This record gives sequence, C-alpha cells and structure tokens, in this order.
Amino acid sequence: MVPLMAVRSPLASLRTAWGGAPRKTIDTPHVLSQTGSFTVIEDLQSILVTEQEIRERIAELGREISEAYADVDELTVIAVINGALLFTADLIRHITVPIRFDCMRVSSYRDDVRPVRKPELIDMVRLDIEGQHVLVIDDILDTGHTSSKVLEEIRKLRPASVRLCVLLEKEGRHELDVRPDFVGFQIPDEFVVGYGLDFAERYRQLPCIGVLKPELQNPPTWT
Ligand code: IMP
Ligand code: MG
Repeated sequence: MVPLMAVRSPLASLRTAWGGAPRKTIDTPHVLSQTGSFTVIEDLQSILVTEQEIRERIAELGREISEAYADVDELTVIAVINGALLFTADLIRHITVPIRFDCMRVSSYRDDVRPVRKPELIDMVRLDIEGQHVLVIDDILDTGHTSSKVLEEIRKLRPASVRLCVLLEKEGRHELDVRPDFVGFQIPDEFVVGYGLDFAERYRQLPCIGVLKPELQNPPTWT
C-alpha cells in the first residue's frame, strides 16, 4: 500500500448545465487505504472518488434522471462501452421510468493517455430510436470529441430528444462545446482509472476512481 497523507474531499455543489440538481466537484485525494485488497490499487497515486461516494452519487443521479423523464412513456438508454459499463449497470437500477437499452462503441484512446481527435465509431446502436427520447451514458467528458461524435451519430437517427449523462467531467479540458445534462463528479485534469475507466484495458474492475501513477501511464510492455 502506498502511504499517502491526504484529506477527505469537501464535496462542493454546482449547478448542472440544464439548471437541474447539483453536481459534485472532486479536487482532493483520499487516502489509498480506503479501498480493500485489490492488488492493482498500488498502481494508483491517489483515490479521487471512493466506492461509497460513487454509490451515493449514482442513487442521486438516478433520482434526477427519473424526475427529468417522469412524463415520457419510455426512455432509450444508450451506453458508450467499454468505459460506461459499470456506471451504466449501477445507474439504470436507480432509473424508475421504463427503459429500453442498447450500447455503442467508439474508440478514443489506443493504449495511451492522450485522446485521439477523431474518434471512430466501431459499433452503432441496433434499436430503432427515431422519435424516441434518448439518454446517452458515457464514462468521462474530457476534450469532448468522443461525446460529440456519439451525439452526432445518434442525432442522425432522428430521436425526439437526446441528453448526455457522464460519470466524470474533467475541468478545463473541453475543446468542443459539449454540455452534459447530468454529471456525476467534476474532477481535476488528471488521468484517472477505475470503476469502468481504463488504461490499456486495465483497472476497469476497481470499485473506486483514482489517479494512475505517472510512471505507469505508458509502460513499453503494454503497447
Ligand atoms: P474525450 O474524447 O477527450 O472527451 O475523451 C473521452 C474518452 O476518453 C472517454 O470516453 C474515455 O474512454 C477516455 N478518457 C478520457 N479521459 C480519461 C481518463 O482520465 N482515464 C481513462 N479514460 C479517459
Ligand atoms: Mg477508455
């Protein structure tokens, strides 16, 4: 275990882009010892969001989303995999309106910590979403290129509405004007892993979200 002197983060509240419920800002790391016996936890420099904070925030997000869609007959939830896999699985269990579910897959990194500017669409939704209310769930909004590509592809299918829900929003990184409607946590500009987020397909299993040690962000053996 890496000894780290860190303090618990005060969770500040902000308003969402659509004027809805508060989002949380995470800016101070937790002590690493808060997360069980995962071997790969030692590859983290610090933990930004604990398992419990994730659990509590997801329950809140589920309530916000259920209220926002209280008047629709059915909501189509589209998860952007692989990153949004764990988040989506937990979140939809807190959405109380009827949903249809599908996934799409977009490539944004190639075993690297730098995003590609032109994400590729690898797998599109199979459901017919014309005239439907669509909620896209993504793991993290960084530069915005990935979410922007996803929203562009979804809009081509002429849904009645499209909203974006992201687990994490990185501060100060947006290159495109993509505004998420629902945000789990705002985090500083660090490369994070865990709870579905990966580096070179590793670390997705971690129940918390943490900053990967800089020296592990590009080991030659992984490329
Ligand atoms: P964007 O296109 O720059 O907004 O990047 C979004 C995508 O890049 C996400 O869906 C993630 O797959 C990946 N990504 C961005 N930042 C991180 C990070 O800190 N850790 C892991 N993946 C990230
Ligand atoms: Mg990824």
